[in-house]
Amino acid sequence: MNAPVSPADTLRGALADLLDGLPPRQAAGVVDRLIANYRGRTPTDAPVLRNRADVVAYAAYRMPATFEAVRTALEAFADTVPGWAPAGHLDLGGGTGAATWAVSATWDGERPVTVLDWAEPALALGREIAAANPALKTAEWRRSRVGAGLTVESVDLVTVSYVLGELTDADRAGVVDAAAAAGEAVVIVEPGTPDGYARVIEARDRLIRAGFRIAAPCPHSAACPIVPGEDWCHFSARVSRSSLHRQVKGGSLPYEDEKFSYVAAARFPVTPAASRIVRRPQIRKGQVLLDLCGPDESLHRTTVTKRHGALYRAARDTSWGAPWPDTDPAS
Ligand SMILES: C[S@@+](CC[C@H](N)C(=O)[O-])C[C@H]1O[C@@H](n2cnc3c(N)ncnc32)[C@H](O)[C@@H]1O
Repeated sequence: MNAPVSPADTLRGALADLLDGLPPRQAAGVVDRLIANYRGRTPTDAPVLRNRADVVAYAAYRMPATFEAVRTALEAFADTVPGWAPAGHLDLGGGTGAATWAVSATWDGERPVTVLDWAEPALALGREIAAANPALKTAEWRRSRVGAGLTVESVDLVTVSYVLGELTDADRAGVVDAAAAAGEAVVIVEPGTPDGYARVIEARDRLIRAGFRIAAPCPHSAACPIVPGEDWCHFSARVSRSSLHRQVKGGSLPYEDEKFSYVAAARFPVTPAASRIVRRPQIRKGQVLLDLCGPDESLHRTTVTKRHGALYRAARDTSWGAPWPDTDPAS
């Protein structure tokens, strides 16, 4: 019997098929323009993704990375709410649907799914790709501007992935407030840059003021201990590179690491991690250094050595972004 194909593999296959229809030089040219556009970071009053070539290039180039980032954030959230699964999902600024794939990869089964975006070509392509995923067969792809004044129907889970950076201050606040008003749970993902982190923290504050509890990555719903401007909280997801990636970026590595910042929050009870590993663990001879965000609003480093036995073995196997038990190895 063949092993079931994961949503991640199905998505990779669907994106590879897409590129067959786009001449490589044209795809590379469109990607260059999109990268320049996204670097500009100026909120526009018209969609950046204007036609099929734009969205095919976006999907092939960026969707594997945004999918992996959102999936990693959702898995961290799912760990804090064992037994919970969303009965419905709304994706704001969903574009070609990376977050809808990530939700289907995190929780089995079908659920009503709605994607709102103002770029019709992105929605059309999202719908086309989603035909390969049984969990998304009935998804609704609806053209809509998201921003100040947005109101949406109540739903279990709202995702906002790689969108806030494209919005004006007022629209960004409006989208987070709309997500908070509609969702039982809200997951927001941004690029893992100082600016992306700043937008995540702003959203985190709004969600807490709206009555949400933070589920991940933070171990608490109190203030973030990072001093603004000195550091930024972010994580990393490994992404297999597509042929378009290799063509545009050169190099021979078969993967790259997508850096992202996120917050997951819920109106219902959650059990956040005791502590979370906020840097890549440093493995030295006989010891592992872990940078942790702890339950007491503190950032601190702990050293786990061989004499800590099982904890040391756990430290050697753990990774950046994983939860860590509330144990003091010195004791
Ligand atoms: C960087 S893409 C991210 C797409 C998708 N969420 C993902 O994670 O791959 C940003 C998306 O936000 C949409 N967008 C930006 N501003 C918008 C607005 N004011 N109203 C609706 N959609 C918007 C764009 O059309 C685009 O699809």
